[in-house]
Amino acid sequence: MGTHVAATAEDLSLDAARAFARVTSEAVRARDLCFVALSGGSTPRGLYRALVESESLRSQVAWDRIHFFWGDERHVPPDHADSNYRMARETLFASVPVAAEQVHRIRTEESDAAVVARRYEEEIVATLPHDEAVPRFDLILLGLGTDGHTASLFPDTPALAEQRRLCVDNWVERLHTHRITMTFPLLNAARTVLFMVSGQDKAAIVRAVLRSTHPDREFPAQRVRPDGDLLWMLDRGAASALGDAT
Ligand code: 6PG
Repeated sequence: MGTHVAATAEDLSLDAARAFARVTSEAVRARDLCFVALSGGSTPRGLYRALVESESLRSQVAWDRIHFFWGDERHVPPDHADSNYRMARETLFASVPVAAEQVHRIRTEESDAAVVARRYEEEIVATLPHDEAVPRFDLILLGLGTDGHTASLFPDTPALAEQRRLCVDNWVERLHTHRITMTFPLLNAARTVLFMVSGQDKAAIVRAVLRSTHPDREFPAQRVRPDGDLLWMLDRGAASALGDAT
């Protein structure tokens, strides 16, 4: 596992964009295609901005060879203010040469969240190569909530126990809403998982996730242990409770 600490949120976005360009380019060189799952929430906005605004980074990315998915989605229409897809469409896909068929949004307009999840799982299986028992994403971007959730794998929710499905609907009592989320088996099959965490408000949970070892009280983010590379990219605020040994 690697941990990278950038001085500011802007530096973090640029460093994450560099990592995105590196990992996706390596995947395209190796397998001609690249499969990426974007994270939700607000932190990726800075990454998307850095990819769009940096001509040199934008030109390094083989945009036409990447298929984009999401690690999770809110159960809202795709044009809703809370939609992870809408944020990416507006801040990234509006400015880079990606064809519609390369963007695999979670089709949340279906009212039954279980149907949404099943259809998304079918699209993942149909789109990614079939040479592995579990489809392997080349890069999965994840965020971290202050309760230790990642994707929509929230503490004390049913999806945490899922060991067979790749993607499920998950009732989150605290938010009183359904989410659609990739599960640990799919996340942990990834070649690279990159957590991107920014802000002083995340310092305590970053320390707890990266330092605590209470087997009976494991945060969901601690269960992300990919077969491939695990990279934590933090800014100084998010890393501020880690002490010197980062
Ligand atoms: C979501 C996410 C969630 C998010 C974290 C961090 O849909 O909300 O997938 O896991 O990544 O809550 O969110 P912020 O980046 O907004 O802090």
